Amino acid sequence: MSIEAVVDLRSDTVTRPGEGMYDAMRNAAVGDDVYGEDETVNRLEIVAAKLLGKDSGLFLSSATQANLIAMLVHNARGEEILLGDNYHIYISEAGGTSALGGVIMHPLSTDERGGLALEQVLGAIKEDDFHLPITRTLALENTISGCAQDPAQHQILADAVRQHNMKVHLDGARLMNAAVALAVEPTDITAPFDSVMLCLSKGLGAPVGALLCGSTEFIQKARRLRKQLGGGMRQAGILAACGLYALDNNIARLSQDHDRAKRLAEGLSEIDGLPVRCETNMVYIEPKAQHHEALYQYTLENNLLIGKQGLPVRLVTHLDLDDSGVDRAVSIIRSFYRHADS
Ligand SMILES: Cc1ncc(COP(=O)(O)O)c(C=O)c1O
Repeated sequence: MSIEAVVDLRSDTVTRPGEGMYDAMRNAAVGDDVYGEDETVNRLEIVAAKLLGKDSGLFLSSATQANLIAMLVHNARGEEILLGDNYHIYISEAGGTSALGGVIMHPLSTDERGGLALEQVLGAIKEDDFHLPITRTLALENTISGCAQDPAQHQILADAVRQHNMKVHLDGARLMNAAVALAVEPTDITAPFDSVMLCLSKGLGAPVGALLCGSTEFIQKARRLRKQLGGGMRQAGILAACGLYALDNNIARLSQDHDRAKRLAEGLSEIDGLPVRCETNMVYIEPKAQHHEALYQYTLENNLLIGKQGLPVRLVTHLDLDDSGVDRAVSIIRSFYRHADS
């Protein structure tokens, strides 16, 4: 193993708090949040709701928990949600919405950038027939695999499904990446939605936590469900302080992650026969199947960590990555291809 520091491109969840964030934790005023007495949590919930243009907010331990609670508030057992077949709620949350909420997930195929078409969504809504589940919620995502979605299209979908008495939820784990990439306000992205989840622990760099925002009534129900799921936290202000710090300091700088993703993609594009695509903070490369495992092993041996979810391989830029890390990643992957058989 070389003594060079590891360059970790597996996800933007791998960041560690810096000094400023640790100071915010140390200085946080805390209380028992289950009693509603943690000033820092209360402040974060107000700040987040305002930022996302909703009445109320709720601090939760993770993005998965926030999505789950939103689905349980919107849907009764036996009701159905429509969502993309590559959206996180469907593929990566252990089926929690179905397992714990008895909610049926109806996956729809997405276009290559993760979007859903209006006709497709409308065509999936069940008619009122007692043989069928009631289609209750449309769950969208932004960004999806790095692709910033068009808020105007989300508004069209939301307006249409509301005519069918449906709710609309946004998994906005990386919605700030979308806002920065599209140069719009976060509220331009969140306006079509009844509920919105924002993760603090991805590009925003907090160690823990997500926010769920919506109407006051929605958040009251969500708060009860958080308790039922064992998600009520006590002196959670030390974590909320990181969230506040992240919202104050780490939104605008996401453009640096996007620039670094471009730099990485440009460097890798020079490798013959390696398809590369890049949007916001994610780069995807598509090595030939016979190179996949060898590339993974080679990068590992050279202290470069890359996605192992399968093909295409995902490389994610984040707060703890600088230009020299990007350049090292490019040089290690290029060096693999110099020795790989074509
Ligand atoms: C789009 C999206 N939503 C939700 C989540 C869930 O986040 P967590 O695993 O931190 O709960 C993730 C995690 O990567 C995600 O990418």
